[in-house]
Amino acid sequence: MPKDTTGRTEIAAAQRELFAKTLDRMAQKVAEDEPTLGVEFPHVTAADGSWIRMPASLSAGYTGSAWSHGNWLCGFWVGLLLASYCTTGDRKYLMWARERMRLVAQRAEDPNTHDIGFIFDSSAIPGFHITGDRWYGDIALVAAGKLRARLVNTRRGAYLASWGPLDDPRGRCSSAIDTMANLSLLYWAADYSGDGSYRLAAEAHADMSAGAFIRADDSTYHAVEYDVISGERKRGYTFQGAADESAWSRGQGWAIYGYVNSARETGKRSYLALAERLAAYYVKRLQGRQVPPWDFDAQGADAAIKDTAAAAVVSSALLELGRVHPDPAAAAKWNGHGLAMLEALCRDEFAHEASHRGLLKHSCYSKPHNEGVESATMFGDFFFVEALCRVVMPGKFRPLATSPMPII
Ligand code: GLY
Repeated sequence: MPKDTTGRTEIAAAQRELFAKTLDRMAQKVAEDEPTLGVEFPHVTAADGSWIRMPASLSAGYTGSAWSHGNWLCGFWVGLLLASYCTTGDRKYLMWARERMRLVAQRAEDPNTHDIGFIFDSSAIPGFHITGDRWYGDIALVAAGKLRARLVNTRRGAYLASWGPLDDPRGRCSSAIDTMANLSLLYWAADYSGDGSYRLAAEAHADMSAGAFIRADDSTYHAVEYDVISGERKRGYTFQGAADESAWSRGQGWAIYGYVNSARETGKRSYLALAERLAAYYVKRLQGRQVPPWDFDAQGADAAIKDTAAAAVVSSALLELGRVHPDPAAAAKWNGHGLAMLEALCRDEFAHEASHRGLLKHSCYSKPHNEGVESATMFGDFFFVEALCRVVMPGKFRPLATSPMPII
């Protein structure tokens, strides 16, 4: 597909209109919800379509042996408010985003979770990009410092521990594939601060994860337990997938997303090649569908449960892969997949009913925990909107690259 002078891929007029209308509807729904939320934030929708909400302050942690992720979704709501501003130009969204950012900002000091990347990459970074206000940027930099501090150095390399206080051995030895999607915060921080150690931490994690998470068939483990001294993988396992050896579709999505961003930010062809292998596996397992099951290896009735959030993450990643890929044929192929996924989400999965809050029906937060199944989820909605913004207004919601490195 030809590209115009802004790097924007030309798409069919009908598709562009569908995407632009969906963004308009998104901004309307966000404006309807914002005054109803008080000081809490939307998390996932309940069976009746209403939002289940949480305060931003809820950190992750163990209660005995039970792990709670806390509120890792609060930043995504700020992101939707900012995307609504980009869509409409209405400054009330900017005011709301700032008020919400004040509630989220306390989490920038949270040392307990890699999700600090999701929280601030979706909120403070677009906030800084859109407004130029360093108040946003400085909050994101504090958060990036906490994420970088999660680096565990071993003989084999270094990885970011995903969950829990680092002095807790259960957290120190574990890393999740989701963390690949959080590296964006570190790449951004390297550029914002001029301190390349943020980028080195991100690259170390990307390199070590490439060796430990990816199976011979290019599917991925959800989580890995390392020997903290040697860096050897002791086991691969799952938290939200169907089984330790299964292919959890959103995990595959986080991996694709993370390696596309790593390729763009470092210029390394090896990350691009890995992103393509992971994406090829995902597309193969789709078997012609645009929305995956929550786990490609789910059995029986469970196999019919979809995850639109995974589709949104992968759509956004493939649109970006299409934009940065130096080979025009490969770029067109990945862009085409990203657009087809996005169109299917707009056409078949958007929650038009007033009673169903959120944007995308049929996300699956965690089937094993029976949480947010057949729901809208804040992360699904965010990556859906990010993908729409990539097509409708490239560079407006997010920088096109933090520190552009041509992939050669
Ligand atoms: N922890 C990120 C996810 O649920 O995909």
